[in-house]
Order: sequence, then C-alpha cells, then structure tokens
Amino acid sequence: MKLGGSVITFKGRTPPMVNERAVRRIVEEIVPYSERLVVVLGGGAHGHQAAKEYGYDNPETPRAQLLRGVPAIRHNMTVLATEVEACFRNAGLPAVVVTPFSSTILTERQIVEFPLRIIQMAMDASLLVITHGDVCFDTVYGASILSGDTIVTHLAHMLHARRVLLGTDVDGIYDCNPKTCPDAQHIPLIDLPHRGGWEFQAGPSASPDVTGGMGNKVRAVIEASKYVEEIVVFNLCVPGRLRQLLAHKETVCTRIVRGGRVGSQV
Ligand code: IPE
Repeated sequence: MKLGGSVITFKGRTPPMVNERAVRRIVEEIVPYSERLVVVLGGGAHGHQAAKEYGYDNPETPRAQLLRGVPAIRHNMTVLATEVEACFRNAGLPAVVVTPFSSTILTERQIVEFPLRIIQMAMDASLLVITHGDVCFDTVYGASILSGDTIVTHLAHMLHARRVLLGTDVDGIYDCNPKTCPDAQHIPLIDLPHRGGWEFQAGPSASPDVTGGMGNKVRAVIEASKYVEEIVVFNLCVPGRLRQLLAHKETVCTRIVRGGRVGSQV
C-alpha cells in the first residue's frame, strides 16, 4: 500500500509538516486488517521541497549539486518515516522502517539493488514494514529520487503481491486532471488490454513534485499490473475508504485489472 505524500504531509507547507491527524486516522483504518502488508510512504512536502531545491526536477542539474542535496532530503524523509512509524506503534502495530537509501542502488533511476531480503525477513517476523520514497545513489547521475510508486511496483513484482492499493488525494484515475478540468470523468474500472478509447491526461501537481505526480503513478500502475491481480487507486483523504478496501468491500475508486480477471466493479 502506498500512502501518498499529499495526504500524509501538508504538501504546500514550508518547512515540511506531517499531517498527524490524517496519519492517525489512516493507522486506525489499518488496525483491523490482519494480512501481510507493506506500507510505502510518498515524500510529500518532506521529499519534494528539498529535492526541488537541489535541482532534482531538472535533468541539467550538475551531479555535485544533486549530491549536495542528499543530506537534506534524507533528513526530511527520516523525520517523516519516524513520525509515521510512531503513529503505528502508538496504535499497537509492530512497525519498523526499512530505509531505502542505506541499501539501494539505482542506475538511471531504475532499481538495481533494494533491501528486499530485509523486508521479507521483517514480514516473516510478523513486523509491519514501512518504507518510503527516498534519495538514493545512482551509478549514472550520482543520486536520484526513488519514488514510492516505483518502490510499490518493484515490491509488487518481487514479493508476488496479490493487491496494490495506491492512496492519493483524488478518487482515482480520470480522463483528464480533476484538479483543473471541471468535466473530468472518473473511471471506475480499467481493464488494461481494452484501455483504448480514453487517455491518461493527468496534469502536473499544484505543489512541487519532482517525480511527476499522477502521470508517474499511471505509468507505475501499468507496470505493476503485470504482476498483481488488482491495483486500486483511491482517495485516502476520505475517511473509511481504506478500511472498506482492506475489508474487500466496495467503495469509490479506480480498479485496474488485466483481462477482466476481477469480476467485481465499483
Ligand atoms: C518522492 O516519492 C520521494 C522524494 C521526493 C524523496 P513519491 O513521488 O512517491 O511521493 P508523493 O507521494 O508524490 O509525495
């Protein structure tokens, strides 16, 4: 499950601040769920602001400048992850943070090494793993941003996940950007082999977003759909929807399946 950065932080706020109320409510919705789960945090204000400051949104940024930004981004992401971890622990859940930076290597932003074995061992020990978007060393660029969406896709593949839940601040995927287009149509079900006839037109995020906002999410969804039975993009800002999804109940969202493998619709 991905907890979008725009939900768990105040994305436009400087200095970055965790939306503790939202995180506590999200944790309460997770408490009744008893199956295996990995929680992936987006960067939100903590990741994107510092990343933009050091030029991670610009392909021309010199390597030395990117590398100078590593401590600030790392610090902010550690603060975010620690605060979220504390909320899980306060609710009695055995959460541990597995930080990508310490054991991930990227090449041109693609994962080459990732702490998969640690995550598997933590899950086998019945711990609830929290990991997060991060800045990581990159063999080509010096350092680059690893988004939570890329992590979700990687884990879905490597852990043979059954389901991916992507919590965002909109009700799912639309035929155009719902934040700027008043006539945007919500798409409740996407059956990927038959997706012709509508197009992704996700616009740029209103707040700094170095990983491409909804457009990147849609690409991650298409990639992840190769490995899991079902991907759900849903509004994590609306109380109760996560709880319903975890209980396999119907709620407003976009479900992405391949070849009509999942019969239920919204
Ligand atoms: C970004 O992760 C991580 C950093 C900028 C360090 P995401 O791209 O997954 O974050 P959100 O969900 O869009 O905020």
